[in-house]
Amino acid sequence: MRQILTEATFAFTIACMPVINEVVLSVWDAAWDRGEVDALDTLLHPDYSRESAGSSTVTGLSDLKKDILEVRAAFPDLRTTIDKLIIDGDDFAIFWTATGTFTGPLGEVPATGNRVQTRGSNQGTFRDGRVLHERVTWDKSELLADLGVPSLRSAFESDLSDLVVDNLSGTLSTDELKGFNRQFITGVTVVTTKDAKGGPRGLAVNSYASISLEPPLVLVCVQKTSSTYPTLFQAKYLGINILSNQQRDTVATFASKEPNKFASLEWHDGPQGSPLIDGSSAAIEAEIKERFQAKTHTVFIAKVTHTELSDAVPMVYKAGGFFDGASLTEL
Ligand SMILES: Cc1cc2nc3c(=O)[nH]c(=O)nc-3n(C[C@H](O)[C@H](O)[C@H](O)COP(=O)(O)O)c2cc1C
Repeated sequence: MRQILTEATFAFTIACMPVINEVVLSVWDAAWDRGEVDALDTLLHPDYSRESAGSSTVTGLSDLKKDILEVRAAFPDLRTTIDKLIIDGDDFAIFWTATGTFTGPLGEVPATGNRVQTRGSNQGTFRDGRVLHERVTWDKSELLADLGVPSLRSAFESDLSDLVVDNLSGTLSTDELKGFNRQFITGVTVVTTKDAKGGPRGLAVNSYASISLEPPLVLVCVQKTSSTYPTLFQAKYLGINILSNQQRDTVATFASKEPNKFASLEWHDGPQGSPLIDGSSAAIEAEIKERFQAKTHTVFIAKVTHTELSDAVPMVYKAGGFFDGASLTEL
């Protein structure tokens, strides 16, 4: 086991430059593999800065410590290997591999239990024998991408103020956008999954859209505050039921927070176990392929693996109500 170097031993080490490699390896091991982030104090310069190549964000020592602890909390079995360390005068490059199991939340992203292997590199410069600046090819967003959770913006931004979009004449209010959305006529779906105990879970969703027929991709957007969301996020498959005109009570049930929304329903398992609701106009089961982070919502993109069609007339919904008896005029 490598030793963590104290300030005194570090000063001695810097005097003997050939062992700087050992210092870097020792501090890296302490910080990333054991969570002893204060070991970084000996290696990083007081003016240390860290630039992410992907997002171009620049952070400092305290952010790095926070990030390491957050990643380690999400991946308690994290193991890193330095594949190559090159030091040339005041320049260095580190190439590394990390593996771990995603068992705790990372930012707003719930754990999936997936095992991930990720690779990255840090390039930087020393000043007075300490790391002054480094440019990293990897950050938490990259890690999410490795987990199949690419971020549309950042999943780690806490400031939601830019949810209100500036337009040319001033600021667009939430009410104006709500007004626009209320004019959009949709069907209503119930998106379903099963929890760890095999219990059926689901919520009413009208953000369904078909993306493409070949490959057969669809999407739904689900609010992160939904009680179904953590289960859905961990699922490999989901069910999407297009409700029929006869299922208006079902909308109210699945737009609620009732603990057992399936109690008075007839439903059956899709081939992969997703709950499909009897009497729906149509139902599909789909394999979740992407979980894009979009601030308050996650956009699930899924590949359809199973379809069920019926003659039941689909529900037509506009905010606050249902359309009755309108006949269909062909295009
Ligand atoms: C017609 C209709 C459409 C809805 N569409 C969505 C949607 O697309 N995404 C979403 O996250 N919530 C949507 N909701 C709201 C959820 O169904 C609602 O928040 C529900 O209580 C969530 O349940 P849960 O917290 O038990 O998962 C919709 C509600 C209705 C009535």
